[in-house]
Amino acid sequence: MELKDKIRSIPDYPEKGVMFRDITTLLKDAEGLVDAVDQMQKKLEGLEFDLVLGPESRGFIFGMPIAYNLKKGFIPIRKKGKLPAEVVSKEYSLEYGTATIEMHMDAVKPGQKVVIVDDLLATGGTAKAIVDMVESVGAEVVSLNFLIELGFLKGRDVLEGYKVETVIHY
Ligand code: PRP
Ligand code: ADE
Repeated sequence: MELKDKIRSIPDYPEKGVMFRDITTLLKDAEGLVDAVDQMQKKLEGLEFDLVLGPESRGFIFGMPIAYNLKKGFIPIRKKGKLPAEVVSKEYSLEYGTATIEMHMDAVKPGQKVVIVDDLLATGGTAKAIVDMVESVGAEVVSLNFLIELGFLKGRDVLEGYKVETVIHY
């Protein structure tokens, strides 16, 4: 079975008109989970970088195993109000609403190279907000890696000029 066939599609969630791509059906499938992490990780082969950044919450699911396998540190990017030390914040819009994400100010050092990992690229709002935070502390985004790309939402356009890698396309 193809990886894509392990993703469940739910119409009109969380609001009318959105086709929600539900990865929980892929995650519970042992082969699917290994395959998904492996395929995402393969796209990072040969790339030099210091850290993996993953946004709460689905970015944690894929960011952590990739960081662990490649022996890199992992930086959690969290929703507003969850991080205890000094933060950099960024408000952004997504397919269904707006939100604010935060990163610890001292998480990434100037000059470090980071990779952003998430489950899905939709409008690119989340990813661009992270890129802006990373650059605001003087670090560099060398790649953005997603399992799923919703091509019709044109997230790639928002990330023009950056290396964007995706595995499954809708
Ligand atoms: C989803 C998804 C991505 C983001 C993609 O997260 O996991 O992070 O939206 O959308 P965008 O490209 O339009 O920014 P969500 O904010 O729903 O949070 P969750 O991971 O906690 O479900
Ligand atoms: N995040 C943003 N848009 C999404 C969608 N259509 N399915 C799953 N996650 C999403």
